[in-house]
Amino acid sequence: EDPALLEAFEARVAADEFIEPKDWMPEAYRRTLTRQISQHAHSEIVGMLPEGNWITRAPSLRRKAILLAKVQDEAGHGLYLYCAAETLGTSREEMIEALHSGKAKYSTIFNYPTLTWADIGAIGWLVDGAAIMNQVPLQRTSYGPYARAMVRVCKEESFHQRQGYEISMQLARGTAEQKRMMQDAFNRWWWPSLMMFGPPDDNSPNTAQSMRWRIKRETNDELRQKFVDITVPQAEFIGLTVPDPDLKWNEEKGGYDFGTIDWEEFYSVVKGEGPVARERITARRDAWEKNAWVREAAQAHEAKKQARKAA
Ligand code: ACO
Repeated sequence: EDPALLEAFEARVAADEFIEPKDWMPEAYRRTLTRQISQHAHSEIVGMLPEGNWITRAPSLRRKAILLAKVQDEAGHGLYLYCAAETLGTSREEMIEALHSGKAKYSTIFNYPTLTWADIGAIGWLVDGAAIMNQVPLQRTSYGPYARAMVRVCKEESFHQRQGYEISMQLARGTAEQKRMMQDAFNRWWWPSLMMFGPPDDNSPNTAQSMRWRIKRETNDELRQKFVDITVPQAEFIGLTVPDPDLKWNEEKGGYDFGTIDWEEFYSVVKGEGPVARERITARRDAWEKNAWVREAAQAHEAKKQARKAA
């Protein structure tokens, strides 16, 4: 790689300029962005499954309409992100093939089952809450198309977080059985939500370089700490107990100390051994294969339109 080009690139990044698709960029920058953005896209798409599972069973028409809209938003997020990743030169088919063959990762969080309606509250509140914590700084990521996709995603995501917290609040204020259900969902989603931020900084192979290139604007541990600090008072406010006996306010650091995350569980889920990992990928593959006719029909329709225009 030409050192003068590299130097100019680094100077632009350091000046907080956006790098755009046609600009020169180091191959490793392109690679790591393609990896991160496509995995982010896959997470949005696979993330539709645990909640989609509850659309027909939402407890009222209002809840059903909200959940349906929310799951559709996630599909939209996946599509913006695939578009952003495509600008780096990898086709959507290649990215989807990488997901279906198990080569590309997606967030560990979507490999856990949604057992009761309270899980839908917990996902909106905790999972979307963690997602926003990670995505707000990505609005300033150095790659223009990714940063711009994040602006809209974050607006929608904050609505998702509120709807989840509102479900959680209602259940926590409900009958003893509803409150028990909510506490149980909270217990099951708390630790996996903390794992969403990725391995600890000293064990995160990509963080240092991604911080230098301003792809990541905050580290995994910084974001995880912020999430804990914001979420613990929210749990207390609605009368839920955080399932962590080591959780303690630390006056000196102005944040909570919290217990050790089960990293063995994290790595086994990353490797594809999550409780419902196989089910998730099978559902995605089935959707892709069984609905191939829809893509083919849309392409045939477009080709006909173009041919008519050309005639
Ligand atoms: N689930 C699955 N894989 C993970 C997770 C996770 N929660 N956290 C880290 N990993 C993977 C990384 O992808 C990386 O593997 P790879 O090199 O094969 O891609 C490996 O573990 C080591 O981690 P890091 O070096 O810390 O990787 P990175 O710098 O990419 O940081 C992070 C991981 C924080 C997830 C980053 O990629 C990111 O910010 N992504 C964008 C946000 C995102 O994808 N959110 C998805 C969930 S939110 C939602 O969809 C609603």
